[in-house]
Amino acid sequence: MKPFLEISQLGKTYPTPSGKPAVIVEQFDLKIRKGEFVTLIGHSGCGKSTVLSMIAGLTDVTSGGIILSGREVVGSGPDRGVVFQAPCLLPWFTAFENVMLGIDQVYYTAAREERRQIAEYYLTVVGLADAMHKRPAELSQGMRQRCGIARAFALSPKMLLLDEPFGMLDSLTRYELQEVLLDLWQKDQKTALMVTHDVDEALFLSDRVVMMTNGPAATVGEILEIKFPRPRSRKQLLEDPFYYELRAQLIGFLEERSHHRPVHAAATPPPAVPPRRRNFLSSLVHA
Ligand SMILES: Nc1ncnc2c1ncn2[C@@H]1O[C@H](COP(=O)(O)OP(=O)(O)OP(=O)(O)O)[C@@H](O)[C@H]1O
Ligand SMILES: [Mg+2]
Repeated sequence: MKPFLEISQLGKTYPTPSGKPAVIVEQFDLKIRKGEFVTLIGHSGCGKSTVLSMIAGLTDVTSGGIILSGREVVGSGPDRGVVFQAPCLLPWFTAFENVMLGIDQVYYTAAREERRQIAEYYLTVVGLADAMHKRPAELSQGMRQRCGIARAFALSPKMLLLDEPFGMLDSLTRYELQEVLLDLWQKDQKTALMVTHDVDEALFLSDRVVMMTNGPAATVGEILEIKFPRPRSRKQLLEDPFYYELRAQLIGFLEERSHHRPVHAAATPPPAVPPRRRNFLSSLVHA
């Protein structure tokens, strides 16, 4: 079967003032099946957001290519719904109006009532039924992120790209939103690729966890299959000894990689501070 998303030999380099380009990602290969939930985990700065951003079409690809549902990805588009750590909501619009903004653009041929129903449906599913007419400033961080998730799903994208969407939330809200996300993902049968730093989040959500090696020239390190049955219950997972085996494998990979981090040039010591010259007034006082 053909993969739904196929990333082949993907690479990203940035120019540097020294003239020697910085290789961030190199030879990154990944195939994702339709309806699969894949998480990308790796050390800070290794290039996870860079990969996601290239799939979203927000960052240019230096080498290789990305094919989504049989078509090469060129630029951004509504076929890919993106959720960042903090949703970019327009402050003068309500949650409902923020969601409607995208719907009006994507479903411009649908009747106004139909578009309104789509926005209301997704805002209700994410738990904002009573707060959808509030502005972002009147919403908590978690509520704003719920709105960001509703907005992404409402546009019915082929694929969801999530970059640490729960990174700024407290653990209780994070747990709640993980369930909201899983619920929607299952209902709408979406394909999802999500970046996370959280090993437990990756295990709870994913069908596969892709571990990235450290940069520079980061690539796919190992891939872990997470075969727990769905729908998943956090409690059941935590009672399963296999969960701790997978957790240990993930942490082991991350720790091992952290021991192999590239050695940076030794920091140059700060210049010796020259002795303070007394100003004229103090020389008079101390004379
Ligand atoms: N526009 C840019 N120009 C030059 N270098 C960049 C640019 N954007 C990112 N980088 C570099 O690419 C590397 C990877 O960054 P990226 O944001 O993808 O990491 P990350 O794995 O998402 O990190 P984190 O977990 O902290 O979010 C970093 O070294 C970063 O400095
Ligand atoms: Mg990042």
